[in-house]
Amino acid sequence: MRKVLVTGGAGFIGSHLVDRLVEDSQVVVLDDLSTGLIENIFQHIDNRKIEFIQGSILNEEDLNRALEGVTTVFHFAAQPDVRVSVEKPFFDFEVNVVGGMKLLEAMRRANIMRLVFVSSGGTVYGEPERFPTPENTPLRPISNYGAAKAAFEMYLSSYAELYEMVFASMRLANVIGPRSTHGVIYDFVKKLEKDPSRLVVLGDGTQNKEYISVTDVVAAAICIANNMKEGHVPVNVGSGETLTITRIAKIVCEEMDSPDAKIEYTMTKRGWDGDVVRTDVDISLLKSMGWNPMRPIEDTVRQYIRWLRSH
Ligand SMILES: NC(=O)c1ccc[n+]([C@@H]2O[C@H](COP(=O)([O-])OP(=O)(O)OC[C@H]3O[C@@H](n4cnc5c(N)ncnc54)[C@H](O)[C@@H]3O)[C@@H](O)[C@H]2O)c1
Repeated sequence: MRKVLVTGGAGFIGSHLVDRLVEDSQVVVLDDLSTGLIENIFQHIDNRKIEFIQGSILNEEDLNRALEGVTTVFHFAAQPDVRVSVEKPFFDFEVNVVGGMKLLEAMRRANIMRLVFVSSGGTVYGEPERFPTPENTPLRPISNYGAAKAAFEMYLSSYAELYEMVFASMRLANVIGPRSTHGVIYDFVKKLEKDPSRLVVLGDGTQNKEYISVTDVVAAAICIANNMKEGHVPVNVGSGETLTITRIAKIVCEEMDSPDAKIEYTMTKRGWDGDVVRTDVDISLLKSMGWNPMRPIEDTVRQYIRWLRSH
């Protein structure tokens, strides 16, 4: 049985990947639980299906221990919030670039050659001219988070060439599903729980972004890992479906039994500093590998809200 490492495996997306990987692999999870939750993977620890190491990608000893006997790494650990990256640029750089570099160096020492990285489809392109945006579009991030993701991708490119390592970067759309504890839907649900009569939307509501179900992301990660052969290949991962923020606000109001809540807008161009107002990535490359999105987005949004309400 192959042995794989999932960094950030106690987080939202990482834990869903772990649920899938335990079916046919030995899984090690390295997570410092800074934003992830032990509950997300507790059942696998209890069943002894995974080895959990509470530690950091910034710590060499933790990395060396986590990499023992591993053949493929799924690198999901990150500072995942654009807003935090604007307030604390160096902290974001340290986790998302230096942490990644420490992982690469530990892999190089241990002769481990394969890694799938979770990059970001919205933030590395910034405000591209072309939609849907193909992978060969110049990277022009408008947030520190996007800059860090793009910077680490550049190192994957050089490491692939210099040390013959094999990498893929999943440039993800906005991911939705159970266990997510950030993002616009989560924020709207929390606001309506506090005051069901009104919903304040950051921006003018016309921001139009691509969303994808976490289940489809997990299938994409497995597909990409099975297909990567050489070099560093960036792959867009989206559903092909976009939603405006106003549409999401209306769905959340309906699902929260507040269909008459007054939707108010702050009327800024962006929801927050670094917010990319339009995202829609070209997913032809991923489809050519045999993957297809299976979950319609409005259904995914509604199911996630129901999950939030029941937890
Ligand atoms: N959620 C999205 O919509 C989205 C979109 C694009 C890209 N991504 C990327 O996907 C990955 C997973 O994001 P998520 O939404 O599941 O967020 P998350 O916060 O749930 O997961 C990140 C995990 O990394 C762990 N972590 C943070 N710093 C660490 C460190 N120094 N050492 C070890 N573990 C550490 C956290 O505890 C957490 O479990 C991240 O790389 C994120 O940037 C997410």
